Amino acid sequence: MFICDSWQDYEVLDTGGGEKLERWKDVVLCRPDPQVIWPKANPALWEKADARYLRSSAGGGEWEFYRKLPERWVLELGALKFYVRPTGFKHTGLFPEQAANWEFMRERIKKAKKRPMILNLFAYTGGATVACAAAGAHVTHVDAAKGMTAWAKENRDLSGVPEERTRFIVEDVKAFVARELRRGNRYDGILMDPPSYGRGPGGEVWKLENELYGLAELCAQLLSDTPAFYLINGYTTGFAASVLGNILTRCMNGKGKVDAEELALPVTSGGVLPCGATARWTPDA
Ligand SMILES: C[S@@+](CC[C@H](N)C(=O)[O-])C[C@H]1O[C@@H](n2cnc3c(N)ncnc32)[C@H](O)[C@@H]1O
Repeated sequence: MFICDSWQDYEVLDTGGGEKLERWKDVVLCRPDPQVIWPKANPALWEKADARYLRSSAGGGEWEFYRKLPERWVLELGALKFYVRPTGFKHTGLFPEQAANWEFMRERIKKAKKRPMILNLFAYTGGATVACAAAGAHVTHVDAAKGMTAWAKENRDLSGVPEERTRFIVEDVKAFVARELRRGNRYDGILMDPPSYGRGPGGEVWKLENELYGLAELCAQLLSDTPAFYLINGYTTGFAASVLGNILTRCMNGKGKVDAEELALPVTSGGVLPCGATARWTPDA
């Protein structure tokens, strides 16, 4: 299992009854999590929640606030800084478990002989973009959502990462990858964190089970002659780590080494919170 235990500003306090109780610096949030099918370890603790995301029967949901929260606030992890806020959907703009992958990529980037060119697909608010650029890489960040890309730029500036280390592209991932292949552009590291379902800026439909293998295969062709890593993350419930591992092994024709594991966060009251799976390819056999 890849366990992310590097945060001081973030903590999963308890889990139970279909929810997780998390501390985001000084703010305690309670959010739904369909995988949490066990009872709470410490029910009294949940009274500390400052806000709770309530799902509606229609499919959406809304936040219920128990005190006035700042419009947004900052989470720090070493030199990295990120804005977080409760968004209209249940997200906060950061997936803290991804810090386990940031650490892996940071080590690969530090080992590279020249500044590696990294491609971050479905890059959202730029957690990995900022982490890789701060480690010394140049990162091309691709996402369909303008608003998320603007948030990613703010995170880059907040972390003091030089502007010239990043390139932000608002485009459909498949269209961008196809164009980069045609142009002959290559990358030393590629990561993707695709949603189960999504849309490109022009309404292009992304459905994970139909599209992932094809995209992963095209991305394998985008790797340079001096590859540092290729990483696929998946948080779709029910997708085993070995699915992602098999995809990478096939796409890389069995070359190099693939580590595929569940990704998880430690829970202060006991156990771990499952957060999906990651497969990491490295050229070292
Ligand atoms: C939940 S995020 C991934 C999390 C992110 N990698 C992180 O750790 O912070 C999924 C992202 O995929 C983007 N997306 C969905 N479909 C897309 C498409 N067809 N092309 C480009 N981006 C897409 C969404 O805008 C969203 O920002």
